[in-house]
Amino acid sequence: MSERDSIVELSEKRTFPLFEKSTKMLEAGQVCLDPGEECEKHTTGHYEEMLIILDGEGRILLDGKELFVKGNSVVYIPPYTFHSLVAGDRNLRYIYMATPTYFDPEHIGWIEVWNSLREKSVWTKYSGEVSDPWEGIADHYDEWSTSINYPGKLLDKVFRFLKNDSKVLEIGPGTGAFTLPIAKWVEEVVALEPSAAMRKILEKKAEFNNISILPQRFEDVEDIGKFDVVLAAYSLGVKDLKSTIEKMANLCKGYCIIIDGDRATNDGIRVADTILKKKLEVEEVPWCSYLSKINALHQMGIFANVEIENERGDVLWRIYLKQRKNMYERLGIWKEGVEIEVMVDLKDKDLLVDRNGELYLLSNGVHALIWWANR
Ligand SMILES: C[S@@+](CC[C@H](N)C(=O)[O-])C[C@H]1O[C@@H](n2cnc3c(N)ncnc32)[C@H](O)[C@@H]1O
Repeated sequence: MSERDSIVELSEKRTFPLFEKSTKMLEAGQVCLDPGEECEKHTTGHYEEMLIILDGEGRILLDGKELFVKGNSVVYIPPYTFHSLVAGDRNLRYIYMATPTYFDPEHIGWIEVWNSLREKSVWTKYSGEVSDPWEGIADHYDEWSTSINYPGKLLDKVFRFLKNDSKVLEIGPGTGAFTLPIAKWVEEVVALEPSAAMRKILEKKAEFNNISILPQRFEDVEDIGKFDVVLAAYSLGVKDLKSTIEKMANLCKGYCIIIDGDRATNDGIRVADTILKKKLEVEEVPWCSYLSKINALHQMGIFANVEIENERGDVLWRIYLKQRKNMYERLGIWKEGVEIEVMVDLKDKDLLVDRNGELYLLSNGVHALIWWANR
């Protein structure tokens, strides 16, 4: 290693990377902001970062909080935390050092990663602020499901775990995509559905008397016995993933099944969400796909099986829009007319197509059936 790779003299003015050729995981550099100059809002993703403020003064906006910084101080920035800096009346000069938080598999905290991503997601914020997140959109959920041919083949896969005398616990049945066909086949289904709007539709459709619909969150139920199958399809948006999975396992004497998904980078919904969030100035946080759940399960010592199904249909634009508009309006951040701008962008990207007078968002996603025996 040459001397240049080991020691660098800092300059009073310039912004430049440090030890670019030498470091393995560490990314570092000096930044020099002129008076009033800004380092725009960004996150370093799963990297954690430290700023060593050398001299000058300024303000840092860290996860929505404004802090005053000056020379001879150090700032810590956790992963997935939006931040921006602006220099005060003098130059602000600092060194940044960033390193990935999970690289060594032994040190990946998947449960923590999942919990923290969930905490920051706009849906979590929304569900925490309104009494029933499905109010006003539950009636469109069926139409959405039909338009993507959901649950399609997933249902056949779930049926493999059922017998005529099975007792099934379903967490978050929604409008009954799984509940109703399963109830036809098994002895009993207990469905935990906290949303009044979802329950109203499910209760109307539930024609079998072997379905009990309880208005409770999974975290809150106690003493409901043991079940042959415990199923959660797209319903584990819970605060604490670890205790939820442990509870699923405790209540199960047969098979635990989690259904979750992922979206490709060119998936219409994913792209539309990114554009919309940018226009509404909502933080983009990586989605907790099924992969984070599998990794979390592994870390808990549960080596689950995973089967993938392609999502088979495109999504009706008006349903997507209704859901997102409802959510952002109730959060008070919807901007009138923004949908037109999003539509133009999506059309440019060939992700929004007209079929017989109806607009569809082209979908490119997968469902994952994650299951393990718990006997
Ligand atoms: C995306 S929907 C999925 C509905 C259905 N499982 C399906 O696959 O079509 C999620 C459902 O989970 C419910 N849910 C959310 N958090 C829950 C919790 N902690 N316990 C039970 N249900 C929950 C919601 O109210 C909603 O009806």
